[in-house]
Amino acid sequence: MTPPKILLFGKNGQLGWEAERQLFCMGDLFAYDYPQIDFTDPKKVVALLDDIQPDFIYNAVAFTAVDQAESEISKATLINSTTPGEIAAWCKRNQRSLMHFSTDYVFDGYLGRDYREDDLPHPLNVYGQSKLAGEQAILQSECTALIFRTSWVYSMRGESFVIKFLSWARDKDELRVVDDQIGNPTWARMLAQLSSCILPINKEDFSAFFDQNGGLYHLAGGGAASRLQWSQEILDNLTHEANIKTKNLAGAKTYEFPAPACRPLHSALNCEKYESTFGRKIPHWKLGLRLALDELAG
Ligand SMILES: NC(=O)c1ccc[n+]([C@@H]2O[C@H](COP(=O)([O-])OP(=O)(O)OC[C@H]3O[C@@H](n4cnc5c(N)ncnc54)[C@H](OP(=O)(O)O)[C@@H]3O)[C@@H](O)[C@H]2O)c1
Repeated sequence: MTPPKILLFGKNGQLGWEAERQLFCMGDLFAYDYPQIDFTDPKKVVALLDDIQPDFIYNAVAFTAVDQAESEISKATLINSTTPGEIAAWCKRNQRSLMHFSTDYVFDGYLGRDYREDDLPHPLNVYGQSKLAGEQAILQSECTALIFRTSWVYSMRGESFVIKFLSWARDKDELRVVDDQIGNPTWARMLAQLSSCILPINKEDFSAFFDQNGGLYHLAGGGAASRLQWSQEILDNLTHEANIKTKNLAGAKTYEFPAPACRPLHSALNCEKYESTFGRKIPHWKLGLRLALDELAG
């Protein structure tokens, strides 16, 4: 048995930081992030692949600033589409495997139910368009790849919605949060675990595993919620002194908070295909949130 050589891109992001802590015991791990590697320069990324010759690439890099993407279209396209497409082409040429992540924002949110993998994408913003183009470039390359679309990713580090909400709640007696955006709050650790625990342990098994299971899947926190429900659940689960001022949360509508990028209203993902293919149960988003908030207690 030979462990695989794994290359992780985006090790400092919400998902990548957690993924490194899963992948480091699954093979020989090489982990990079900006500025050691720059996805606006696809040639250099491909040169690194030639150099390292990984068996498997886990790509957690993305341009995720949804509003900023509206004015930085070429940068978002390079990072979310062009370079993932070049990585996929390299995988195809060298018979290696790729795991990549996409977003619920490939959908417009008008369907009125949770989205399945075969529902028609129709992004409302540049970020969603660039992520959809990335999916298509990978699928068209015909490399062996798993693409996981996920939604509302948060971690207890950095600038996630949970961290931002807690800082607002320390500041204000009452907060207004939108109740018309529905998604799946997804703890980055859960996403890292559920995406990596399915991988083979033996390098020789990778191509058969990806041949058999490759394709597009939805993978996000179980159940769905509005941003208001998510926020209320954060407040209800603070089991320690967090210096919170907020006593009341009030509902608001998305149109009351104008932003450069238009967001889908109901873009929650149906994740049954992941569960039935890989035989894993996705935990409810409320359980993930409770465990994530436990970390605040130290
Ligand atoms: N966050 C969400 O709510 C959400 C929702 C749905 C889907 N997703 C998808 O889930 C995946 C993981 O998202 P995430 O929340 O973990 O993202 P994230 O925290 O924003 O991390 C993205 C990583 O990419 C790196 N990066 C950005 N520009 C780069 C460049 N030019 N070259 C190399 N690296 C660069 C970032 O480095 P710097 O920090 O140095 O810029 C960061 O480490 C992505 O595919 C994303 O599209 C996320």
